[in-house]
Amino acid sequence: MGFKHTGLFPEQAVNWDWMRNKIKKANREIKVLNLFAYTGGATVACLAAGASVCHVDSSKGMVTWAKENVASSGLSKRPVRYIVDDVVKFVNREIRRGNKYDAIIMDPPSYGRGTNGEVWQFENNIYDLVELCTKVLSDTPLFFLINSYTTGISSSVLANILNLTVSKKYKGNIESGEIGLPMEKSSLVLPAGIFGRWEE
Ligand SMILES: C[S@@+](CC[C@H](N)C(=O)[O-])C[C@H]1O[C@@H](n2cnc3c(N)ncnc32)[C@H](O)[C@@H]1O
Repeated sequence: MGFKHTGLFPEQAVNWDWMRNKIKKANREIKVLNLFAYTGGATVACLAAGASVCHVDSSKGMVTWAKENVASSGLSKRPVRYIVDDVVKFVNREIRRGNKYDAIIMDPPSYGRGTNGEVWQFENNIYDLVELCTKVLSDTPLFFLINSYTTGISSSVLANILNLTVSKKYKGNIESGEIGLPMEKSSLVLPAGIFGRWEE
């Protein structure tokens, strides 16, 4: 298993490019689970790369917005399942149903609520959710990406969580680092958050 810690880079484009490349190069059907999926940027990126996506968010309004984004990207006919649910409840349901995914993406907020008011708190719940998610990974997972804008958390925490959960079951490499927004009129990059990712 390898560890790599990287510096700042333009977050979405790079993580999306990374996912897209991995999906395209896999040369097999890739099923993606996108948790806290928001307005669907990652869903669109994965669908465009040829994957099928299960898009989960507790906000009906956000899911409607994501559907519109998928449609305006010309991807409505691609295989996508939209779920309005609490992420923890949904993953537990998928475990009971025996459904599996080749790739998991999550963009957990600092604080959030499920459909029935279930409280999500990054610091309290992230480890258990990642561990739970390992139970819906297929036998040959492609990647597991965690993205976070929660302040005060080191990206090494995400690497450690992936190390203690996903890497316990599957051989692969972990990379973590900061994400940032490049400034237009200077070479500076504004720090925006952290990421941790596991890949086969
Ligand atoms: C993409 S994250 C936004 C992250 C944001 N940058 C932050 O740090 O707060 C927020 C999304 O997660 C969803 N969400 C929050 N708690 C949830 C839960 N328990 N289950 C499912 N979705 C949830 C929200 O509806 C929202 O669309």
